[in-house]
Amino acid sequence: SDLDTFIAGLPKAELHMHIEGSLEPELMFALAERNGVAIPFASVEEVRAAYSFSNLQDFLDIYYAGAGVLITAQDFHDLAAAYFARAAADNVRHAEIFFDPQTHTDRGIDLATVMEGLLSAIDEAAERHGVTARLILCFLRHLDEDAAFATLEAAEPWLDRITGVGLDSSEVGHPPAKFARVFAAARARGLRIVAHAGEEGPPEYVHEALDLLEIERLDHGNRALEDPALVVRLARSAMTFTVCPLSNLKLCVVDDIADHPLPRMLRQGLRVTINSDDPAYFGGYVNDNFRVLAAAGGIDRDDAVTLARNSFLGSFLPDDVVALHL
Ligand code: ADE
Ligand code: ZN
Repeated sequence: SDLDTFIAGLPKAELHMHIEGSLEPELMFALAERNGVAIPFASVEEVRAAYSFSNLQDFLDIYYAGAGVLITAQDFHDLAAAYFARAAADNVRHAEIFFDPQTHTDRGIDLATVMEGLLSAIDEAAERHGVTARLILCFLRHLDEDAAFATLEAAEPWLDRITGVGLDSSEVGHPPAKFARVFAAARARGLRIVAHAGEEGPPEYVHEALDLLEIERLDHGNRALEDPALVVRLARSAMTFTVCPLSNLKLCVVDDIADHPLPRMLRQGLRVTINSDDPAYFGGYVNDNFRVLAAAGGIDRDDAVTLARNSFLGSFLPDDVVALHL
């Protein structure tokens, strides 16, 4: 449609994308072969057929297993290079990408290997596509806070190339409060702060992310809508929400894309952005996420402009660089 073409042409930033979640089945197969790693699938079609999830944990089990094919710096480079090519094709001009060090260090891959591959791909993307990128290190919330502290310490040599820290993995039962001390330590090192909250977890987790972690961006945040006073607070403070429509659909956070809360979020004056979360697992990159809402009548042309503008406003780029994108 005309709206799809308009959306595709809009320059945008992507603020919520897990690089491990951009591992397409074809690359998973190629890396499994290259590294002699066994995967429990006979074909790319079988992998895709396994991508039917009833909740976040269902997905995470497959996502962590898939990441097991990533062994060398070249693997991490190829993974990120493939994402940047797809992002550039969607007119993404800037990406702030999540990575999960513990998923790799816990299976014996050095953080140096991960960083070497990701950083070389970031440098290449700037030259090849003119796409700028930043890294956000995520702590896995199903693990304990000591493990998060160890990860922050291990990352010390690269903190000049890590913009911020985030919090991801299994939400319910792992509230932000569990990580208050390690986020304080990250803030003390000058890192920017984000967290997944209110994806499956209750509005109380969003309050904790604000008050205890001091988040500067809210990843997902859907369930904040259940608490009207919280919505007012988030609107007044111009908190950026990184919303992921296809993810919400595939993880059964919403039953139907026509019922997705994003249009309501916009109407309530929230600074919403659209993102792909784990594009290889949820059926699309950032433009697909815009398009699915457009097709359901949830967003129009003006909304698309607002959403793209919000993506730069909500980024961690300096104000003068943001202004160049607007
Ligand atoms: N890790 C990758 N994608 C995630 C999501 N949507 N929620 C929590 N952790 C994740
Ligand atoms: Zn996410």
